[in-house]
Amino acid sequence: MVRIGMLTSGGDCQSLNATMRGVAKALYRLYDDIQIIGFEDGYKGLMYSDYRIMEPRDFSGILTEGGTILGTSRQPFKLMTEPDENGLDKVELMKQTYKKLKLECLVVLGGNGSQKTANLLSEEGLNVIGLPKTIDNDLWGTDMTFGFQSAMNIATNAIDCIHTTAASHGRVFIIEVMGHKVGWLTLQAGIAGGADVILIPEIPYDIKKVAEAVKRRNKVGKRFTIIAVAEGAISKEDAALSKKELKKKQEKKTYPSVSYEIAAKLEELTGIETRVTIPGHMQRGGGPCAYDRVLSSRLGTRAAQMVYNGEYGNLVVIRNNEITKIPLKETAGKLKTVNPKDSMVEEAKLLGITFGD
Ligand code: F6P
Repeated sequence: MVRIGMLTSGGDCQSLNATMRGVAKALYRLYDDIQIIGFEDGYKGLMYSDYRIMEPRDFSGILTEGGTILGTSRQPFKLMTEPDENGLDKVELMKQTYKKLKLECLVVLGGNGSQKTANLLSEEGLNVIGLPKTIDNDLWGTDMTFGFQSAMNIATNAIDCIHTTAASHGRVFIIEVMGHKVGWLTLQAGIAGGADVILIPEIPYDIKKVAEAVKRRNKVGKRFTIIAVAEGAISKEDAALSKKELKKKQEKKTYPSVSYEIAAKLEELTGIETRVTIPGHMQRGGGPCAYDRVLSSRLGTRAAQMVYNGEYGNLVVIRNNEITKIPLKETAGKLKTVNPKDSMVEEAKLLGITFGD
């Protein structure tokens, strides 16, 4: 009998179950005798031998279900090499569980940090295959991560809803979109929702330029302005600070988030009422959109084929609409950020969208 371990790690997203279903359905088809072991709450389950023997029926009816049937947890990569609260070596614990269960391979559904750990385990000699999860679409080496399109639909819907109320009241509205380090979600939801201003971490903004854009719109009779702001948007002044100085400033917590700081400054500079809306974790909630269901099914079944062929140490990715693979060591630790010169940014600017740069 062949035994495969599977876990979902890091922040959840809409298409984790659809992906696991893809892996499982194909594995049951490819092998005559196979057992799938599901680890609870990500790497924690692998460390502390917290697992379930999965049955084919566990993977039925979950294509459209959000969240993860296995549960997940954040286990930061930087803490992986530090002992746990009982002084035990976490990597050794994971290796022991893998060996004790006589696993042929471990399939890891996760984002950046999780794939770094997957690579670490692969370097430690375990057979590992990664699957690219995250609503941020910031995993290096894949054109698309599963979860991103579903989250984009939710963020876009939030902007759509705000549009009507902003227009009625003639207000400036800021919609804060998830993404601390990268702005893909804000950029694309902003374009899809017809935002007038988009502020992302990769393009530090000048608040005066944002205020000018708001005033310009008012001058030509447009009563409202929609601003899509990434959680990690940063002003030019803050971007010029050293890491230490920025941390010190953020620790003061003058505003609950960057959007509130922008709102306060904009009201001061424009005299126009400014409101903030934060859809927050709603963006990771609910079921996957049709695009993600297809992507997850494709990535998942390919992962199963890779298990069958023994193509270990790889991340399954999509490039130019082809499902393919890249070595985990190539993607580990690299972020796919928005290049300020990206054609999508240029196109947005041609639509008249201001980035505050
Ligand atoms: O990595 C996905 C993500 O949703 C980010 O966009 C967001 O900043 C972060 O997770 C939120 O994390 P948590 O669920 O731990 O609050």
